[in-house]
Amino acid sequence: MSELDEMIRQAAAARENAHAPYSGFKVGACLRSADGRRFAGCNVENLAYPQGLCAEAGAIAAMVAAGAGDIAEVVVLAEGEALCTPCGGCRQKLAEFAGPDTPVHVAGPGGVRASFTLGELLPHGFTFERDG
Ligand code: THU
Repeated sequence: MSELDEMIRQAAAARENAHAPYSGFKVGACLRSADGRRFAGCNVENLAYPQGLCAEAGAIAAMVAAGAGDIAEVVVLAEGEALCTPCGGCRQKLAEFAGPDTPVHVAGPGGVRASFTLGELLPHGFTFERDG
């Protein structure tokens, strides 16, 4: 199985565990870190709606907790007609650990539906140079 297929498989498996009783829209994500590990996440909604977490945020948290610091590739997987591209907040979260050339694949049950770079999804993203 190719690396990308394995990422899709893990995103789909995480999606099965999504907690999405309010939207009914389950999402899975898988990140590959620069050191070659994979981290999956799913959306976790909450009765207090703004407290819900996107699948990408869960995968990023798992990656950081495991000590990896750079994202090399991203898969986001959902069902439905519309492409499930990462929300604006998640694009910024990904940009903390990924570069503008990092591939972000949007997948469905049949595999990859569209591929972008993070720079395409988040042009002119927020950044600044810290003093000192
Ligand atoms: N969602 C994600 O987990 N990732 C995305 O890229 C887009 C949206 C979740 C948030 C919410 O739980 C549900 O999908 C419906 O918006």
